[in-house]
Parts: sequence; structure tokens; C-alpha cells
Amino acid sequence: MRPLGPSDVDGVCERVIARVAAAAARCDLLEGTLDRGALRRAVANVEGAWVARSRGRVVGHLATAMVDRSRGRAWVPPDGASFDSPAVLGALVGAATPVWRDAGAVGFSAWVYDEPVEVGAWAACGATLRARRGVRVLSPPPDPRTGAAFALRRADIDDLEVALTLDRWGDPPGAPGPEEAERRREVADLLEDPDVDYLVAEIDGRPIAQAVVMPLAPRRGSRANAVHLSAVAVDPERRGRGLGGDLVGSVLERVRVAGYAVAEVNWRTRDPRVERFWRARGFTPTHALVEGPLPD
Ligand SMILES: CC(C)(COP(=O)(O)OP(=O)(O)OC[C@H]1O[C@@H](n2cnc3c(N)ncnc32)[C@H](O)[C@@H]1OP(=O)(O)O)[C@@H](O)C(=O)NCCC(=O)NCCS
Repeated sequence: MRPLGPSDVDGVCERVIARVAAAAARCDLLEGTLDRGALRRAVANVEGAWVARSRGRVVGHLATAMVDRSRGRAWVPPDGASFDSPAVLGALVGAATPVWRDAGAVGFSAWVYDEPVEVGAWAACGATLRARRGVRVLSPPPDPRTGAAFALRRADIDDLEVALTLDRWGDPPGAPGPEEAERRREVADLLEDPDVDYLVAEIDGRPIAQAVVMPLAPRRGSRANAVHLSAVAVDPERRGRGLGGDLVGSVLERVRVAGYAVAEVNWRTRDPRVERFWRARGFTPTHALVEGPLPD
């Protein structure tokens, strides 16, 4: 176990390339190729990375994307970890822990493949599955909807107060939402971003639900021409009556017509109904967000 040095870069890149290709061979919702030059630059320049070697061969690696001091979390980047066995991952996390702690972290977060071997190895390091990313292809078209009961419109910054109310509907029950000034800033940014569609569903001019749609810049693990859905929320008084399903159906049809090939969404796993909702809309989990405290 040692900090990643220049002589490890090629070995780590080869592992990542093989790992990405193998995952795509198992699941056709994943992209199997990547930009080798960009990967090499990312691996060579990462701050805080470790390799595990055995008999002259790299058997695992772990990298830090950043330490979010305000939330006390060390983030592992996509494909920022590989391990030949759970014990290797445990040893890598052990090596990273003092450095992450010195940088202000009390825990770690990583998006990993949603596969039992991966999630299990992270669980052995004390991590819990917190969220999933699901993907669905947009062709053939999503199920035709039988005439949604609402009108869908793109909101702009003049709708900030309405959007703030709708955004609050998406807060998980029993957990603190974001700090109000932060929420205002984030929602305003989305409303002003020309690449983002902040969609509000209305019945008789009254907002009843929202969804935010943004194109995904090419990134490792995501298929080309992907769109990201987020902040899907229905008026708490009107849930369970088909509105959320109709909203997602309308949004998927809209992005399909706009030429996107796949849609991605991240959902928290705490509420099994939310999990059921997305699976029933055709989203298949590809990635899992695992989070844990730093080991003692
Ligand atoms: C998830 C959500 C958008 C679904 O909208 P909805 O209008 O309640 O959903 P529909 O009526 O079309 O579909 C009902 C299905 O959604 C699921 N569901 C999820 N959350 C639900 C809720 N709070 N109430 C009722 N059903 C819910 C149910 O399991 C149901 O499936 P079932 O018929 O197999 O039981 C909505 O409940 C919501 O806004 N939740 C809070 C925000 C959130 O978690 N958004 C997802 C972010 S990724």
C-alpha cells in the first residue's frame, strides 16, 4: 500500500479501462469506452491517491476527487477505486483515512457500480447504500400517456418563488432540507441556466409538480447523448394518483423528441416507494452511492 506515484499511472489506467469495459459487457446501459488521454491526465494529477501492489502488480487503487469540508465528506471520483478483493479495498480506505481526516472529512462517499460485489465490499468498509442512479433508453418511445391532466411549461427566473415551493416538496420526509439561502441560490441557478429545462406542471394555472431536465456532458460511465432528470416532485396532497407517472412520461417523451438517447435519474433509497416508482418507469439501476464514516 503506498501513495500513487508516476510509475503506477499506467497500471492504474489499464485497470480502469478493463473495469469500465467489463461493466459495459455486463450491462448495456453503461458506456464501455473512455478517453484514454483524459483518464491518464486525471490519474496522474489526482491529489491523494493510493495503490495496492502485490508481487509487482497493481491489485487495487483509491483516489480522492475532493474533500467537501462543509459536509465533512471525502469524495471518491467515478472509477476512483478498484480492488481485487474486499480486503484490498479495506486496506486502501485504511491508508486514505488519516489523509482524509486531516483534510476535514469525517466520512466518505463514492458512486460505484450497483453490483453486489462492489456494494458488498464498500459495506465491509462500513458504508451504506444511500442512493441509486437508474438509466433507461428512450427508444422505443416510453409508454404513450393517456392525455396528462396537467399542462407542462418551462419556468424561468420570474417563477423563483413558485419553484422554491415546488423544490421543498422534494425534500425527504424527516430529514433536514438544504439551508434556505443555498436552496434559493441553487434553484435560481437552474432557472437561469439556458441548458436546463425547469419544468412546472400546472392544473388550471396552479402548480402541482415539477421536474428538472439537463443534458449530461460526456462523462465516464454514462452513455452518449444522455439527459439527466432531477428534482421530480409532486404536491404532497396529490401523490399516489398517477400524476408523478404522467409527469415522467411527458418529460421522457419530450426529451426523446428532442433527440436524446438515454435518460438518467438519481434517487434516494430510503423510501422503497420512490425506488418502486422509478423501476416501474423503466429505470434500471446502474450505479450506487455508498457513504460511510471514516474508520477509527
Ligand atoms: C415520487 C413521486 C414523484 C411520485 O409521484 P406520485 O404522483 O405520488 O406517483 P404516482 O401516483 O404516479 O405513482 C405511484 C407510485 O409511486 C410510488 N410512490 C412514491 N412515493 C409516493 C408517495 N409519497 N405517495 C404515493 N406513492 C408514492 C408508489 O409506490 C406508487 O407505486 P405503486 O402503485 O406500485 O404503489 C412523489 O411521491 C414525490 O414527489 N415524492 C417526493 C419527492 C421524491 O422523492 N422525488 C423523487 C426524486 S428522485
